[in-house]
Amino acid sequence: MSQSQQATVEPQLKGKHFLTVSALSSEEIKLLIEKAEELKSKGPEYQPLAGKTLAMIFEKSSTRTRMSFEAGMLQLGGNAIYMNSQDSQLGRGEPISDTAQVLSQYVDAIMIRTHGHNRVEELAQHASVPVINGLTDLAHPCQALADILTIKEKKGSLQGLKMAYVGDGNNVSNSLMVICAKLGMDFSIAAPKAYWPKEQLVAECKVLAKETGATITVTENPVEAVSQADVVYADVWTSMGQEEENEQRLNDFNGYQVNAALVHHAKSDYLFMHCLPAHRGEEVSADVIDGLNSVVFHQAGNRLHAQKALLVELLK
Ligand code: CP
Ligand code: NVA
Repeated sequence: MSQSQQATVEPQLKGKHFLTVSALSSEEIKLLIEKAEELKSKGPEYQPLAGKTLAMIFEKSSTRTRMSFEAGMLQLGGNAIYMNSQDSQLGRGEPISDTAQVLSQYVDAIMIRTHGHNRVEELAQHASVPVINGLTDLAHPCQALADILTIKEKKGSLQGLKMAYVGDGNNVSNSLMVICAKLGMDFSIAAPKAYWPKEQLVAECKVLAKETGATITVTENPVEAVSQADVVYADVWTSMGQEEENEQRLNDFNGYQVNAALVHHAKSDYLFMHCLPAHRGEEVSADVIDGLNSVVFHQAGNRLHAQKALLVELLK
């Protein structure tokens, strides 16, 4: 194969935005995972982003996303600047489109965590530097990358594995469903009907899954979802911004806790995963999240490596 032919097939992420998993090809996802493995083994001495700056806009709380992006930029030789909506002009109503045009002149990339996904899209539309989605109500693509890295490290390969997600059809499960479909992993979600993922996204994932030989299952039955699963995943029942629905949700998700009785239906070497923060005694019992099959802290650690890979590929 000639060099020019090779150049056309190699995934190229430089200068692109990272708003959803859907926007990436399977090859681009695999490239990011391989890059994360490489950077993880190289450690913090590898500094290809010297002189580069990341702006981090937070309109919701964060521990992992904020700290791992900031630590990641520092390890890569660059800088990160934190801005929240309360004490910036965004909180006083300055348009996101104006903010995008201003920040693009100061920094090399912008990471944002916010409520409506349209805010991230608007930021990307008006920014002349890459925009990274650090969580919206619709998607959490950085989490999905770190989760796949974790599963690959723990299981050796991805194709043919089954992930069972028990709980709310939310930002985290949306990104997981898409990434599993793109990588040939079976994905089952169990939730009360009112909390199922949007039909359109499920339909899109079923098409993707067909191409990779995977299946997508949406059910009300947690036992069906978890049956013979390699990975059992939980997230909070009430996401940020839904606090007023908390009581209703606690009621509606009764019976959907990931506990010893439920994981009994998974494979004996199943992994328990959770994006964190977790509520022990609600979506997961303490014995499961603190048990031998749980990889939640390894998973949280991998946020750093997956995001370093993303930053290097977008900015190199
Ligand atoms: N999982 C995750 O995104 O954690 P934070 O909300 O702490 O960033
Ligand atoms: N679904 C959760 C994830 C937190 C990392 C939320 O949006 O609050």
